[in-house]
Amino acid sequence: PGTPAAAPPAISTAAPRAPAAAAAAAPAYALPTCKLACVMVGLPARGKTYIARKVARYLTWLGHHSRIFNVGNYRRDAVGAMQPSEFFDPDNEEFARQRAEVAINALNDMIGWLDKLDDDDEKSLSGSLNFQPPSASVREGPLKTPTSATPTQSTRVDEASKKPPGSASTASPGGRPSAAYSSTDHAGGAARVALYDATNSTPERRLFIMEQCREHGIDVMFIESVCDDPKIIVKLSSPDYKGADPEKAVEDFQSRIRFYEKTYQTLDRSEAEGTISFVKLINVGSQVIVNNVRGYIQSRIVYFLMNLNITPRSFYFSRHGESMFNVMQRIGGDASLSPRGEQFAKRLPEIVIRNLGEGTRLTVWTSTLRRTKETARHLHVPKVAWKQLDELDSGVCDGLTYEEIEARYPADFEERDSDKFNYRYHGGESYRDLVHRLEPVILELERHYEPNHSIMIIGHQAVLRAIYAYFLNIPHERLPYIKVPLHTVVKLTPKAYGCEEERFSADIAAVDTHRERGTPLNPSPRLNPSGLAHTHSLAPSSLDVVSPLGRISLNN
Ligand code: F6P
Repeated sequence: PGTPAAAPPAISTAAPRAPAAAAAAAPAYALPTCKLACVMVGLPARGKTYIARKVARYLTWLGHHSRIFNVGNYRRDAVGAMQPSEFFDPDNEEFARQRAEVAINALNDMIGWLDKLDDDDEKSLSGSLNFQPPSASVREGPLKTPTSATPTQSTRVDEASKKPPGSASTASPGGRPSAAYSSTDHAGGAARVALYDATNSTPERRLFIMEQCREHGIDVMFIESVCDDPKIIVKLSSPDYKGADPEKAVEDFQSRIRFYEKTYQTLDRSEAEGTISFVKLINVGSQVIVNNVRGYIQSRIVYFLMNLNITPRSFYFSRHGESMFNVMQRIGGDASLSPRGEQFAKRLPEIVIRNLGEGTRLTVWTSTLRRTKETARHLHVPKVAWKQLDELDSGVCDGLTYEEIEARYPADFEERDSDKFNYRYHGGESYRDLVHRLEPVILELERHYEPNHSIMIIGHQAVLRAIYAYFLNIPHERLPYIKVPLHTVVKLTPKAYGCEEERFSADIAAVDTHRERGTPLNPSPRLNPSGLAHTHSLAPSSLDVVSPLGRISLNN
């Protein structure tokens, strides 16, 4: 077993805040606030809702405010789900009027939400988060001008970030004024991004939306999904066809698409006198056309969309095996594995191979710290060590126990408990900083699309919390408390409307490093519980398995 790193540094409580930490976070926050409407375009079943949700989740994870306004949901609320395809006939005036009305309601709500100066009423909206499969939208003719931009009863919001980054308190709960440079400082600059999810398939409709938004100082970027590859056009189960005979549903849906095809026109750079801003995705990433895209947040979205792929795949992650610092309850450092951690490292190939599936290759990503590399060393596969995957930098607290931190920095200890996501260690990082550090890792995971090739990340508690929160769409307040036990492999399989999860416990005891707000750490070693739905526990076996990783004995 390795030896613990050097003894914790002796630091006086008067240690100055490290200005370097503030500088590190500056590029992410020192940006002007912007209001942006991303308007989806495309025929039904082109993955618009899927794309809108991914963009919203990504932006929320980065700390921006994002909401989806799904016109299909407004329509179902207004006229019910079971409408025959004739409801989408552009030549039927009454139906067209009804569809235009719901589109306007959604547009008004979106403009109202983007216009809001603060998020005081966020909570009333966030209770109605409502993820629905894609659906058709309203007639693609011009809409009548909305009477006002006052939000209607906004029960149709699809996704939200509940807490604006700028809202974090910089004072302790007792009202103690924060230090000159607060450990939760971040200078605002979060964007407000709405995703208007409908077919929006004619230039007239798009011009109308642009005019309405521009009147309210809202930037507009269109996102079109064009699919002509029959392999990609997959009809996902729509609430419009809940309980319907599948054959009839397919027939009806195809007829609905034909109605839309009558009026659909793909985005063209000449629209709105050449001022239209858009990104067009052809066959989900095989070709991307970007027109007139300016602005920081728009560019981030385009870059994200360029990395999207929909190939079904799973990836794995695990914390490193228990380290000597874990045993001593010290945070940070660069310690080696404990004997139990070493046992886990030896067990890891067995767990992974059983789950990889025939013919699937694996690449392991570790951090640059020795405990992750030691955990990976029995996996004889290509490995990449990412600096970005290093554990949360705990600055002057590196190498201390939580008890020592509380004794030396009581105010900070309390401050961290009151806002753990935003609390930045002196000379170190906050979870918010960590999320931004991990953005390239997320983009690389999204981009990775080789069939039969999985990625496994062997990482650290805080880092894996941040990655897990991205895929499971967990809000910032809860992110720093996600349970990622030692000696447990997590398999995530992103699906069109969520992420499937399985956990595989190695059944090797380890200390519990999870500390709930305001509680002491549990010092006793125990078997890690897995906590989530699909849990598999592996019994020791004496088989030899020939796998993509070579011949491996299963009785380590
Ligand atoms: O205790 C293990 C550890 O990975 C530390 O190195 C790190 O500082 C800590 O977990 C992060 O967890 P928390 O944010 O809950 O303190």
